[in-house]
Amino acid sequence: MSTARNPAACHPPDNDTDTNLMSRRILVTSALPYANGALHIGHMLEYIQTDIWVRYQRLAGNQCQWVWADDAHGTPIMLKAEADGIKPEELIARIKAEHERDIAGFLLSPDNFHTTHSDENREMATLVYQRLSDAGYIVKRTIKQLYDREKAMFLPDRYVKGICPNCGAADQYGDNCEVCSATYDATALKDPVSQVSGSVPEQRDSEQHFFALSQFSDMLKEWTASGALQPEVANKLKEWLDSGLQDWDISRNAPYFGFEIPDAPGKYFYVWLDAPIAYMASHKHLCARTGESFEDSWAPGSEVELYHFIGKDITNFHCLFWPAMLEGAGFRKPTGVFCHGFLTIDNLKMSKSRGTSITIETWLKHLQPEYLRYYYASKLAASVVDLNMNFEDFTTRVNADFVGKVVNIASRCAGFISKRFDGQLSSQYTEALLDDYSQFSSAQHIIMQYYEQREFGKAMREIMLLAEHANTYINDQEPWVKIKDEAQQDDVQLICSVGLNYFRVIVTYLSPVLPELAAKTEAFLNTTLSLESLEQPLTDHSINRYKPMMTRIEPAQIDKILEETKASDIVATTAAVSAPSETQLEALKPEISIDDFNKVDLRIAVITDAQPVEGADKLVQLTLDIGMESRNVFAGIKAAYKPEDLIGRRTVMVANLAPRKMRFGLSEGMVLAAGPGGSELFILTPDDGAMPGMRAK
Ligand code: 2FM
Ligand code: ZN
Repeated sequence: MSTARNPAACHPPDNDTDTNLMSRRILVTSALPYANGALHIGHMLEYIQTDIWVRYQRLAGNQCQWVWADDAHGTPIMLKAEADGIKPEELIARIKAEHERDIAGFLLSPDNFHTTHSDENREMATLVYQRLSDAGYIVKRTIKQLYDREKAMFLPDRYVKGICPNCGAADQYGDNCEVCSATYDATALKDPVSQVSGSVPEQRDSEQHFFALSQFSDMLKEWTASGALQPEVANKLKEWLDSGLQDWDISRNAPYFGFEIPDAPGKYFYVWLDAPIAYMASHKHLCARTGESFEDSWAPGSEVELYHFIGKDITNFHCLFWPAMLEGAGFRKPTGVFCHGFLTIDNLKMSKSRGTSITIETWLKHLQPEYLRYYYASKLAASVVDLNMNFEDFTTRVNADFVGKVVNIASRCAGFISKRFDGQLSSQYTEALLDDYSQFSSAQHIIMQYYEQREFGKAMREIMLLAEHANTYINDQEPWVKIKDEAQQDDVQLICSVGLNYFRVIVTYLSPVLPELAAKTEAFLNTTLSLESLEQPLTDHSINRYKPMMTRIEPAQIDKILEETKASDIVATTAAVSAPSETQLEALKPEISIDDFNKVDLRIAVITDAQPVEGADKLVQLTLDIGMESRNVFAGIKAAYKPEDLIGRRTVMVANLAPRKMRFGLSEGMVLAAGPGGSELFILTPDDGAMPGMRAK
């Protein structure tokens, strides 16, 4: 470990005193969104998690800075700009402005949001590379790569498709097979086709720059086991480390949108080289503004704690490549890397076709950000498990907790104080009430500990217990009855003052999650919320008139979000036909003659049976009735369909495809499906009237 202490990495502080350590200096990052698309609620899971933790640290009195940026380099961005007919610089500037709008809209509080395409990042990437090179960690090696002659470019793995060299499945990407999960080099694909131009690529020699990752094995074994990572992540990495590390190709050939490698004209830094370095660059950019020392945070042995929030899919970049690069270039390593799982909606991946790929822009048109902030907080834990969202659960939980339990306290008490007591809080606290109040204020220890550990769900539950207690108190005291009795006026003032003081404590605890509610509460209670000020209730204190703070979510608002998302995805998909985006780069295949077409025997088929295939996550074994005969076909559609739902459906199959011997048996044809793959794959269904065995023409 490069830092002297590691109070928060993944091991929670053992006791209350740890959370009271004053003025820790903390630097936090979130993963950098690619500058080629809109932010959606899946991105927001990580950003809200980061924001809550950062705001909690600031509330706890620590100096916590969040540095962040757009990830602006790489082939997809270059090709998208080209498809849109603009310069990449123009594209990334537009997207950055949109991202910044969404960041503000969701009340995220980064100290700096920069871009990887910045002077600071060019300087830092060059420095890191130079130091690695000087230390002998950069090696040049000539490798074979697929080259698209029409486009005059080397093809990244995801831009070439062909037949899997392992199982023979067609239409597989150049890095791994979706059917048999084999990983391979793109040059091993059979019958490769460029997804950029549709042409057949050729193999060419190309000299590339490799980072000698394997030389960092020992350091990484130690670092990954040091407590800097969640246990499940450390275990996974141990498997990788034990099976040996490969050197890492950190260069890409022109044309590429990125930084040219200084001593290698026509070679560019791979986007994943300069992306994490932009954490440093963004910090440097911030330091230039604040006058703070950049070196202080990044020197080996720095006292500043450094944490990265990331999704589980980019663990290798942050927990292997990045610490090795830092170490090799003479910088400190991260104190901790916090991995989270993915957002699922009704236990399925977010999907355009289901209308669940909700952009932030759409969300904010219909619902406030704090609803989602609270919902995510109530479900977030420190582990890597996926977080499932269900809109009914979302509505019920937010309405019941946030509105029904928390905001309700203020709305029940405020009217009496302002109308009957001239906005003045009572000073008549009894010993018993002070005792009760101290239970509220001392709950901060456990709640802050949960925040520190990123156990936000547990923190929310503790806070809701307090809110329930406050509501019970008000119910039992019935101020609305007592107000009618002239003799009990002082009591009513006291009851409502107690209620509002409970509200103040609760909102202070919720402030990392609900910053807008906190700001409104400060204005209403005419005070600044802080942990220290909670020691005593506000007494004999003048407050402002109450304005409603939050209303219930109406199901119609959710409906509108889902409808709008579906509609915009149809528009986007239609638009993609004329201007394919980077994710829809399914180039047209080369022209064929009618004779070629006539060679394909397309038949209407009925799926008479569908079974999962043991040992193959992605395959379904289909029995297809094509009139006079029955065919056995293995189809890679498991992520999109439950086998039992397929039985009885009609579809179209290629009936004269040469049978393929697979590990699981003989596959005698192929069913037709459309879509990018994975869970977004749709088998084709003929119109009524088409009978099994009929030829499709
Ligand atoms: O996976 C992604 O979306 C990347 N743009 C994350 C980069 S994080 C860091 F390394 F820069
Ligand atoms: Zn395969």
